[in-house]
Amino acid sequence: MARLFFAIWPPAAARNALERLAQDVAVVGAGKPVEAAKMHLTLAFLGEVDQARMSLAHSAAAALPMARFKLSLDRVGSFRRSRVAWAGASCLPPQLESLQSALDSELRANGFALEERPFRPHITLARKIRERVPTASIEPIAYACEAVALVASDLGRGEYRTLESWPLGRDAGR
Ligand code: 2AM
Repeated sequence: MARLFFAIWPPAAARNALERLAQDVAVVGAGKPVEAAKMHLTLAFLGEVDQARMSLAHSAAAALPMARFKLSLDRVGSFRRSRVAWAGASCLPPQLESLQSALDSELRANGFALEERPFRPHITLARKIRERVPTASIEPIAYACEAVALVASDLGRGEYRTLESWPLGRDAGR
């Protein structure tokens, strides 16, 4: 069994900027900052997946419309229930929404039980926060989303392992 999720990892420069932001936000929220290497935007969380169903996760991604797009993270805030502080975008690229909804449909069609709550794209900056982080604008951190990764989360060691990565194409009318 492996705990799997699909996510987009920002390029190194953006991850470093996010790490600096996370240090500040973690102070405000009295939580634990996420390190640069772990900064990611989750598209779908699959939970525990056994070996027999692993190939279904791979084939769901292989069937996706893949178009590269830019994302500009321009605000921070927090989710009370999951006690995380996040960075998010006030303007969501339509390609991100169509990528996530296509992935969601493909995975459900393959029998995966996914989160029922609406997709709220974010990058977690700090965990286990004890104080609310008020929603606020930030100096935007913008980057190109260039690949979708299928990642295993090793809870015991607190590590992520990329199993496969699908590059996003260069088209999309740009
Ligand atoms: P988070 O960053 O908001 O905590 C690996 O754990 C990734 O999957 C994280 O990005 C995490 O989101 C997300 N995740 C963990 N458990 C989840 C759940 N039950 N539903 C949706 N996403 C989840």
